[in-house]
Amino acid sequence: MHHLAMATQSTAKPARLTAETAHESTPSLDANRARRLSRDTIQLRCLTPADGHHVTDLLGRLSQQSRYQRYFRLIRTLAPADVARFVALSPDHLAVGAFDGNLLIGAAQYFRLSGRPEHAEVALEVADSHHRRGVGARLVRELARLAAAEGITHFTATVLAENRPVLELMRHSGWHIATTPDGTYSDVVVTLPPELVGAGAGCACASRAS
Ligand SMILES: CC(C)(COP(=O)(O)OP(=O)(O)OC[C@H]1O[C@@H](n2cnc3c(N)ncnc32)[C@H](O)[C@@H]1OP(=O)(O)O)[C@@H](O)C(=O)NCCC(=O)NCCS
Repeated sequence: MHHLAMATQSTAKPARLTAETAHESTPSLDANRARRLSRDTIQLRCLTPADGHHVTDLLGRLSQQSRYQRYFRLIRTLAPADVARFVALSPDHLAVGAFDGNLLIGAAQYFRLSGRPEHAEVALEVADSHHRRGVGARLVRELARLAAAEGITHFTATVLAENRPVLELMRHSGWHIATTPDGTYSDVVVTLPPELVGAGAGCACASRAS
């Protein structure tokens, strides 16, 4: 959870949000339906080393608060080595990205723990413009399916104890969650459900290194 970092808020909304606004203005379409339609425009895929510039851009789409919640400090840029680490492909690391058109608007990744290979540390972030649209939950589910296929049974994370959004997101997953408060932080352990193992990869990861 301590690995990576990102910048300030985005001003321009992605093009697809224009369509969403049109849906919301349709009297016969309630807010929930419009929200589901907006989710349908988001595509998930595994990130590869060619996606480094998307990762750099995503940092710029996080508010200061989101950056702090994600990286525990107000970083402005990601070092090239951190970007490379973010998009690296290996049996011990994978990042899934959520794209709205050509814009990376969210990412989740895991790093397998060297001493406990069935456990992996996870981190995720979603651009503030796209919060509360189900993107974070989709990313975690997709990452979990891919991790389970690699023999990972547990996700771990250290989060700010005050980070209600991510704690609620984990609880909302329906999976078994153990949370241990540790002052400013909380340690979270998620037990991935057995049915995920063998479910197969669910996103376009054809370019993933074997
Ligand atoms: C945490 C984060 C990834 C959630 O992403 P998101 O796409 O907004 O989350 P979702 O829309 O998928 O929310 C799924 C569920 O999580 C819970 N949740 C999410 N945001 C919440 C909030 N602000 N308050 C309360 N519950 C929240 C809800 O139960 C929600 O379901 P609902 O919308 O049907 O009620 C996002 O807030 C973020 O990027 N935060 C900054 C980075 C960070 O904190 N990362 C975690 C540490 S690595």
